[in-house]
Amino acid sequence: MRKASLHGQWSSRFAFVLAATGSAVGLGNIWKFPYIAGENGGGAFVLIYLLCILAIGLPIMVAEIMLGRRGRQSPINTMRDLAAEAGASRFWSWLGWLGVIAGFLILSYYSVIAGWAMAYVVRVASGVFEGATADGVSNIFGQLIADPEKLLAWHSLFMIVTMLVVARGVKGLERTVKFLMPALLVILILLVGFGMEQGAFEQAASFLFKADFSKVSSEGVLTAMGHAFFTLSLGMGAIMVYGSYLPTKVSIGSTAVIIALADTVVALLAGLAIFPIVFANGLEPGSGPGLIFQTLPIAFGHMAYGSVFGTLFFVLLVFAAWSSSISLIEPAVAWLVENKKMSRMRACIWAGLATWILGIGTVLSFNLTADVKLFDKTFFDILDYLTANVMLPLGGLSIAVFAGWVMSKENSASELQLKSPILFNSWLFLVKFVSPVAVAIVFLKAIDVI
Ligand code: PHE
Repeated sequence: MRKASLHGQWSSRFAFVLAATGSAVGLGNIWKFPYIAGENGGGAFVLIYLLCILAIGLPIMVAEIMLGRRGRQSPINTMRDLAAEAGASRFWSWLGWLGVIAGFLILSYYSVIAGWAMAYVVRVASGVFEGATADGVSNIFGQLIADPEKLLAWHSLFMIVTMLVVARGVKGLERTVKFLMPALLVILILLVGFGMEQGAFEQAASFLFKADFSKVSSEGVLTAMGHAFFTLSLGMGAIMVYGSYLPTKVSIGSTAVIIALADTVVALLAGLAIFPIVFANGLEPGSGPGLIFQTLPIAFGHMAYGSVFGTLFFVLLVFAAWSSSISLIEPAVAWLVENKKMSRMRACIWAGLATWILGIGTVLSFNLTADVKLFDKTFFDILDYLTANVMLPLGGLSIAVFAGWVMSKENSASELQLKSPILFNSWLFLVKFVSPVAVAIVFLKAIDVI
């Protein structure tokens, strides 16, 4: 197998951890997790999500990094070569294609939401939220998403900035994420502190951690599982392509644990920051994608130096979204460079342009085409459902099957270098049986087949 990727390599394990954490921690943790937890009744949903992270996400993350490092190319070519190595069908490269397409679809709407966060940097900094009521804050949000021109402008800006970083390659990615993670953590803790002092903290904690299973449907279980994939950036080749830039010596197992842990902590902190405000202000936990934009400004509007912290928070949120977006498009860019012999710059322009165009569909789905629905879902809802609840679990399932059943045990053991045979065998058991079966059951149950 190849010794290094043609696109370069991370300078150290720390750099990889930062980049992969940068990919994992994003809008999924701070924007999506709280609102879907709210929509699905809280505690039981959160517990299922945590279980999915542990039993499905973590082993698949180990598998995905391992495949990437062994193949050392874009996911499409990696899967083709690894299948050849294992004497399996070339068809496996479709797994890479599924990922490239999922990344493209996700980024198209991810960028629009990141645009909301950018718009909020300006709003919070200008002080419009000072002393604002819950109604006032909701109005400001409503005005933003009702305006397609504004959303389009922010979406465009976000796409340009993302593609600029991707164009600079691995080194560019590294530098961007280095200072971001610690700063984001500090400000989240500060917000949790605000919630403890001024919000309905106890009510929030019991909403998030008291499990009442009658509140989750099988559809809710699928959402929790899909979100485990989404938040860990699994099932579409983002972590695989980052793994392909990983130096040979680095231990994959412990690295994956660190990334999953960091990601989970950020999501839970976000929940603990947001729900005290929701309950203290009589807001609806299930109010959907606008949740953080309708709650956090209330906190910023009422705390000392709120405009400063608020501005900082949304800046960091934009950065977190940014370091995730980069990994969403990297598999496509790496493939264009490898197979179409494009320069990195050209590859970025084409991939970025296509994503930007599709993003217009999401922009409009919040205003002009908000009533155009298929199965009761807007364009944005459909993209979100299709990617998080269908494509990522399907991709993750295939990765688990490939790592557990197709790749030889000798090869996976030598690539992983886990410290003890017990660890290796437990991992193998999880990817061979537990993850695929769990994904299949949840999936079939949600679409009413079983
Ligand atoms: N994990 C990112 C988030 O939580 C989103 C993402 C999904 C990034 C899939 C890459 C791949 O926001």
